[in-house]
Parts: sequence; C-alpha cells; structure tokens
Amino acid sequence: MKRIATLLIAGLICTTLLPQAAQAQKNRKKAEAPAPAPEFTLPSTETREQKLERMKWWTDARFGMFIHWGLYAMPARHEWVKNKERLTNEDYQKYFDHFDPDLFNPKEWARMAREAGMKYVVLTSKHHEGFCMWDSKYTDYKCTSTPCGRDLIREFVDAFRAEGLKVGFYYSLLDWHHPDYTIDRCHPQRIDKGTPEDYAKLNEGKDMNVYRQYMKDQVTELLTQYGKIDIIWFDFSFPGENGKGRDDWDSEGLLKLARTLQPGIIVDDRLDLKDVKGGWDILTPEQTKVASCPTWDGEKATWETCQTFSGSWGYHRDEATWKSVPQLLELLIETVSKEGNLLLNVGPTARGEFDQRAQDRLEGIGKWMHANSRSIYGCTAAPEDIPAPERTLLTYNPEKNRLYVHLIDYPLGQLRIAFADRIAYAQFLHDGSEIKFDKEFLYTPVLKPDVEVPVIEVFLK
Ligand code: GLC
Repeated sequence: MKRIATLLIAGLICTTLLPQAAQAQKNRKKAEAPAPAPEFTLPSTETREQKLERMKWWTDARFGMFIHWGLYAMPARHEWVKNKERLTNEDYQKYFDHFDPDLFNPKEWARMAREAGMKYVVLTSKHHEGFCMWDSKYTDYKCTSTPCGRDLIREFVDAFRAEGLKVGFYYSLLDWHHPDYTIDRCHPQRIDKGTPEDYAKLNEGKDMNVYRQYMKDQVTELLTQYGKIDIIWFDFSFPGENGKGRDDWDSEGLLKLARTLQPGIIVDDRLDLKDVKGGWDILTPEQTKVASCPTWDGEKATWETCQTFSGSWGYHRDEATWKSVPQLLELLIETVSKEGNLLLNVGPTARGEFDQRAQDRLEGIGKWMHANSRSIYGCTAAPEDIPAPERTLLTYNPEKNRLYVHLIDYPLGQLRIAFADRIAYAQFLHDGSEIKFDKEFLYTPVLKPDVEVPVIEVFLK
C-alpha cells in the first residue's frame, strides 16, 4: 500500500511538476538493435575531375525546388516558431494532434516543379522541430501517428520521380523534440547568457549518444527505404560555446553512412566538415547573392544558393515581402552566370498545398523557362574574354559553344558589344528570330518582346 502510494506520488510529480521529463520518458524508444555498421568510405581519394563527373547531372540541372514542410505550417509564422516563442513540447503538441493535410497531392507539387523548370527537389524529412515526415520506426513523433496517417515521404518520392526529377532529403541535425538532444544556445529552452555549467546542469540525464544513434538509424531508413536518393542536405552546425559541431553529431560517421548507403549521393556542407577532404560536395550560401563564384582552397567550388520566395522557409501566412517573378528570374540567371545552382523554396500550407502566391511565381518562372531554359541547363559563366554588355547577364553552354545574353534592362534598339568577331549567328531564344549584328552592336527590335527577360542566343565561332 505504502509502495503504491509512493509510486502514485512519484507519478504525480512526474506528470505535473516535470511534464517535459515525463513526455521525454514516454517518447524514448526502447533500445532498438543498432543499425548494421557498413563498410565506410569517404571519397577522400576522389579527384576534382571525378567529383565533377559524379555531380554532372546536378551541375547541368542548375535549378531545383526546396520544400520546407512540417508541423510549423500550422502556426504559419516561421519554421523556427518553436524556438522564437520558446515553446515547450507541450505547447507545441497541439500541432501534432491536429496535423491533417487532407489536400496533399504530391503529383500536383511535382507537376508544378517540373513546369517551373526544376530538375530536382529537396524535401525536409525532419526539420529542427523534430517531427518526421515518414513512418520512422525509431519514433512516434511522425506523420503516421497524427490524424494525417500517411507516409508523406513515400508519396512525395514516388510523385517527383514520376515527373522525372531527382530526389533529395533535408535532414535536420538539430532536434527540439528528442528527449536526449541536449539543450544548447539554439534551443527553444536555451538559457539567456547561460554558462556551459548552466547548460550542463540543465542537460543532466540526457545522453547525446542515444541521439547520435537515432540520427544514424533514421538516415539509414531514409537512404535504404525510398530507392535512389540523389541528395542529402544535413542542417546545420553551430560549433563553439553551448553550440554543436562535428563531434556532437558524429559528422564523419553520418557522412560515411550516407556515402556508403547511396554511392554518388550529393552532400551539402553543413556537417562542420569543411576542412575534411571529401567532407562536402557543395557550398550552400543562403538567402544571399554571391559577388562571384565562391572558391575553396583556391579553386572554384560547386555551389548552390538556397532562397525563399519571402523571408520564411516554412509556410508563413502573414509575411508580405514576396519576391516578384522578374526578381526570381534574375536570381536564377545570375546564379548560373556565376557557375552556381538555385534551390528555390516553397513552404506548403498545413492543408498540403502550394498557396496561390507560390503557384503564381512558379508559373511565371515556368512561362519563361518554357522558351528560355536553354540558357540555364548545362550552362555556366561566359568565357573570360567575353565581357557582358551593359545591363545584361551572360551564361554560356560550353558543349554547344553558345553564349546567352540576358537583357535584364531592355535596350533601345541596339546593344553595344565587344565580341562581334566571335559571333557566327545570333537570334532571340524565345522565338528563334534573327538578331542582326555588326562590329559594334547587336540590333534588337525597339519593341520589347512579350518575354519577361528576353535572351539573345549567340552561336560562337
Ligand atoms: C537555416 C535554418 C532553416 C532552414 C535552412 C535552409 O539553416 O535553420 O530554418 O531550413 O536554413 O537553408
């Protein structure tokens, strides 16, 4: 009797005084058999040429879709809402309990991505909130345990592959829900001006070893149960005091696992392995226009800029600073002119749809790409001895030896050029109509064609 009373009191303390600990305990999975340890291979012996060859499909593609989708689509005020508003797991639980994206039709998403001219897609399998978009056997914090009930990743992968796009997964290293993930300076339950000692105290009883194994088990699921996965996008590291870096994640272990399970997979640079040979494939400048092609170790790097339509990655209902179609086209063209890729983000709604603002922009881009994608796919920077005419952006297809002059500001009948001796023939790209030229000028019609950014395709000698 006494024992029962003690247990009852202990239970009461657990559920009332320590709700988070209780939840944590509930969520902690029974010890699962660890993932089989595969033969690890970092491509540290890969030459630069071999790497470029492995990544050729990606470099040629130039344009992909990022999708940030998770529970945070419901509060609809930024995917970091749990952090920004310092919400506890209990505060956040209402989103899990009511997650029901009944209008989710990934075939529609995939069609819109293809029609916009995107060649690959990267979806958040788990964002920092910790919610999993697939039927992971290592947690109950997943879509199949919500009213949604569907394995969203399974349907997503099938639909995008059917439209011919390459498929990638974003996987958050941060996890604001897992009971063994230690609280750090990026966590919703961070301590203002907390010292390492404060954090150590706060994290008593948490075991990052368990979390590290959890990540490996989940990455193994993602990279073995959904066919060929072309990209894995780990996000992100913040080493230093009360932060997390390569040792906290076991970044090398994760990377080796990914490379082993999916040979050829393209990996981003956010595992905190920049200085490790073979530690990353692409630089990922975020929400910024680079001044020129980024370099690493004195050599030009393969890179991809990820960008939002507005300021938020997750669906944000009230955010009004959306980029226009011309701005987005310029972003795409400029990225390619500096030898990079653009990963453009959509944040679907909690019902599972791309909202009208996103659809309008994708359609606008698609309209342009329909007639002008030749200046994007397989293209790169112009040869160094060809200077860009005023108010234009140049791209170049080395295999076809064609130069693309993008008329960002439409000229008044003529465009001064300094490379006339290199031109064999020139035409508008959108309709294949001849553009005459002489030693000094390309002659454009005074009336701007009905194309957002007209492009002159120049066949070089
Ligand atoms: C940042 C943010 C995140 C977003 C990502 C996209 O790391 O934490 O919300 O997913 O950038 O690049």
